[in-house]
Amino acid sequence: MENSSKNYVVAIDGKAATGKSTLAKEIAKKLNILYIDTGAMYRAAGLYFLENNLEFNEENIENNIEKIDIKLKYCNNATIVYLNGEDVTDKIRTSDVSMAASNVSKFAKVREKLVELQRNMGKDDNVILEGRDIGTVVFPNANLKIFLVASEDVRALRRRKDLDKKGEVKSIEEVKEELLKRDEQDSTRKESPLKKADDAILLDTTSLTIEDTVNMVIDMLKERVEI
Ligand code: DC
Repeated sequence: MENSSKNYVVAIDGKAATGKSTLAKEIAKKLNILYIDTGAMYRAAGLYFLENNLEFNEENIENNIEKIDIKLKYCNNATIVYLNGEDVTDKIRTSDVSMAASNVSKFAKVREKLVELQRNMGKDDNVILEGRDIGTVVFPNANLKIFLVASEDVRALRRRKDLDKKGEVKSIEEVKEELLKRDEQDSTRKESPLKKADDAILLDTTSLTIEDTVNMVIDMLKERVEI
């Protein structure tokens, strides 16, 4: 069943560093629609745990969930992430925060809170969301669902480039190991594990340019909705 409201929803899911953000951002820019980076929300929640030296357990989730306020704001095509009023946009892009995001995302209470936020943000506008559970849980009636895959080598290279830009120097082997660990954790958790929705289109970006991928997805969307 498709999304029945007037606006349309595009869901982009996949493992870490498969190119979800780049694709979703580019499409949002081209079509002038809202882009929601759901991973950034889990990252902000993970950062809260790191900064407060909290272990990832049920008790700490229970005692802190109400104290975590996450907001995304949009400014000149960029997403600004706020954690309890502080701009944490840059802070959330480290390897430590990647793992913390994955750790915190296992808990049902965290997911409930963030999924509600995501649904509210996407309910009135044409929107593209990227994450792990968009097509399966957040917007199961999305008009178009894409599940991105790419080879481990290409993903590790892409992620290392991102980390390099932020001044975090790591070997390819280290980056690959971290990606695989996080994928394993994200795919095997009990709550909303990362998996392809039955009606999602599998897209392998290993040998595709960003431009090719963007154009392919926009063509698929044109077949489904008026854009
Ligand atoms: O997309 P990302 O690498 O920024 O996501 C960071 C972590 O957040 C990811 O390892 C798992 C979690 N996440 C999630 O559980 N569900 C989402 N919709 C998005 C991210």
